[in-house]
Amino acid sequence: MLVFIQKNYEEISKAAARVVSETLYEKPTSVLGMATGGTPLGLYKELIRLHKEGLDFSKVTTFNLDEYIGLPPSHPQSYHYFMYENLFKHINLDERYIHIPSGMVDMNDLDKIHQYCEWYEQQITAAGGIDLQILGIGANGHIGFNEPGSSLGSRTRIKTLTLSTKQDNARFFENEITKIPKYAITMGIGTILDSKKILLLASGKNKAKAIKDTVEGPITAQVPASIVQMHRKAILIVDEDAASLLDNEYEEIVTNLE
Ligand code: GLP
Repeated sequence: MLVFIQKNYEEISKAAARVVSETLYEKPTSVLGMATGGTPLGLYKELIRLHKEGLDFSKVTTFNLDEYIGLPPSHPQSYHYFMYENLFKHINLDERYIHIPSGMVDMNDLDKIHQYCEWYEQQITAAGGIDLQILGIGANGHIGFNEPGSSLGSRTRIKTLTLSTKQDNARFFENEITKIPKYAITMGIGTILDSKKILLLASGKNKAKAIKDTVEGPITAQVPASIVQMHRKAILIVDEDAASLLDNEYEEIVTNLE
């Protein structure tokens, strides 16, 4: 695991865009794992800028980490909507290669949900696996919607959102917790770990404890992100605020993982 500390949000976004673009230059048919939330927005803006300068996404395949259950793709807070608004509609991805888990699975039909989750996993495998998985981190240490206590070997499935996650995400739902879906579909921790490279981003003081636990704490299901310590090619790019509780010394210059 490599940890890079950058001055601020703008710097982590630029450094992350460098890692993504190097991955695409090396392998134009890369499979990217996409994340949502406020954190990757700067990275996505930077990728749009690089695309205008020639970065090609036409052969890239994407798989999103998660989606809220009950929100149709047209809902402004769905992760479908988020991805199209903030990245997909601005770059030249082939629509056929975009995959986002559906939030419209029928919660009364457990067999169908199970089949759907298995299908999503199979699509990832059929695409050759994820080359680079982009991750944010929840203030409680979650990745995707793998909340604390999630099995470290878990695969794509439905998770119940914790109160702390709902509190964090209430800002996107007019600050009303009751408007936030109860459940989400998410790639599992095992699914994420199978990615060939992981790029985890964090910014701001509210992520400092989660980053401290992830980087310098024990590997535990109580801090799902801590599992990245086990990954052979994990790169963490965090700003000074998110790094403020770290005790050890880390890198400043981001180099490619290869
Ligand atoms: C959500 C997403 C995560 C994301 C997290 C942090 O819960 N499911 O994938 O990492 O929020 O979001 P933010 O970057 O807005 O702090």
